Amino acid sequence: MSTLAVYPGSFDPLTNGHVDIIERGARLFDRIVVAILVNAEKSPMFTTGERVEIARAVFHDHPNVEVDTFDGLLVNYMERRRANVIVRGLRAVSDFEYEMQMALMNRELAGTVETVFMMPAAQYSFISSRLIKEVFSLGGKVHGLVPDLVEQKLQERRSVRL
Ligand code: PNS
Repeated sequence: MSTLAVYPGSFDPLTNGHVDIIERGARLFDRIVVAILVNAEKSPMFTTGERVEIARAVFHDHPNVEVDTFDGLLVNYMERRRANVIVRGLRAVSDFEYEMQMALMNRELAGTVETVFMMPAAQYSFISSRLIKEVFSLGGKVHGLVPDLVEQKLQERRSVRL
């Protein structure tokens, strides 16, 4: 039986930390779905459509990586997709509490769903979408922290605003 894993998140924007986890997941599982939560934030930097487009472009050469969207409860999406592995990245101890709560809540809601945690490469362990947005919006460089396509889209945004 093949294993379908789901890597859920906001991905606003996709970072090299996310890319690292997705690549690890694609090696570990038969198929991994990058599941982008619709309308997670009131004012996202990128629309859901843009986030889907970016992730599809970044993983176009990974045949077992799929990009999809979901809304509502993650466990309902898992059931619809007949998937029972949730992948989440753990960067530091500070992530643990929130991740443990989510994993146990998801288990409470759907007992057959397992959450598998993976550590990104150490060089990405300090990156978060929130910090990327903050650094970028204050004029800092994000080169090497996000895929080139994300950097390009961020720069386009900056030049439109100037
Ligand atoms: O990128 P994030 O913010 O770390 O991802 C959080 C996400 C999307 C995984 C989480 O908010 C989620 O699963 N939301 C869907 C609603 C849901 O199922 N909530 C209960 C989770 S225990």
